[in-house]
Amino acid sequence: MPAASSSRASSSRRPSSGSGVAIHRPEGQSPTLEQVRREVYELGWWYQDFEIPPGVRTGFGSPLSYDPQHRWSLIEPFVPADLTGMSVLDLGGSCGFFAIQMLLRGAARCVLVEPVVEFAEQARYAAMRFGFELEIVTEDVHVYCLTTEDRFDHVLFLGLLYHLRYPNLVLDRAADMSKRRLYLQSDVLGPEQEFVHDRDNYARDDAELLLDPAFPKLAFIEHLYNRDATNWWLPNFAALSALVRAAGMEVVARPHPQVIVADPKRRLGTAQYRRLVFPRYGKVGFDSFPGSMRFKPADWQGLLDTRTEKLGG
Ligand SMILES: C[S@@+](CC[C@H](N)C(=O)[O-])C[C@H]1O[C@@H](n2cnc3c(N)ncnc32)[C@H](O)[C@@H]1O
Repeated sequence: MPAASSSRASSSRRPSSGSGVAIHRPEGQSPTLEQVRREVYELGWWYQDFEIPPGVRTGFGSPLSYDPQHRWSLIEPFVPADLTGMSVLDLGGSCGFFAIQMLLRGAARCVLVEPVVEFAEQARYAAMRFGFELEIVTEDVHVYCLTTEDRFDHVLFLGLLYHLRYPNLVLDRAADMSKRRLYLQSDVLGPEQEFVHDRDNYARDDAELLLDPAFPKLAFIEHLYNRDATNWWLPNFAALSALVRAAGMEVVARPHPQVIVADPKRRLGTAQYRRLVFPRYGKVGFDSFPGSMRFKPADWQGLLDTRTEKLGG
């Protein structure tokens, strides 16, 4: 996904009031299809291309948008059909597709963490069109996860791990924050096989640690990956499950090499300190984080230009 820039704008832990789009109709009046089409269009380029009531697709033909339905079809069999009364956390939730699926199953509360202001506004609007209210935190997940004591029945951690400067730190927190189930998706490198450990200790000079391509590994991306300055680490297949286990969770399903469903097994809890001093991080020549972000106007325009279905006026 293309990088957004950090505006150093103050972050908000409170849901903001508007969806960022001007709505010109009496309160309570249902919008027409054309009105919703225009409002979705005015909200800009949507990463997730999905349908919102009364039948408008968010992608507008952009090849850079993706249809999240396939990803949902992989995790959906492991999500209880009835989430009545449950709480959900959607980390790096973009414009809200997965959070909305959980609300459609009856979840009572859903917090979506998304530092990109444009995406957060889209998520708020999309949820509103389904008749839901999302709690939106416009902040980096490192900061959110290290400054909340909230825990959730279900935690979504999709398409995010490789974007994180400190992925294990956030995964450990997400594991502790998951009361029932964690859904993890990440790109993976290398052979799609688990590493079979035939010993419980490795000697310091054991070449197997480095040379076996299946041994759990994280590749560090110092420069750009997929032309995106917000990509930092790529795990191999075995590392993804090893990291989940090391965070105190049990892998209950792996419906796809990139997808893990995990339940809490060994709760390690937290150590609390009075203040958090978090390092700013960022690649050389690019913006630094944490904080909420806005796209640079030229980058945003580039994304808008990829839409093949245009609205006039
Ligand atoms: C590849 S998209 C995945 C979106 C969604 N979870 C999905 O699976 O379709 C990554 C999302 O994570 C957000 N993101 C990137 N870095 C983040 C960070 N440090 N904290 C929170 N969200 C982040 C991006 O803005 C983007 O919306």
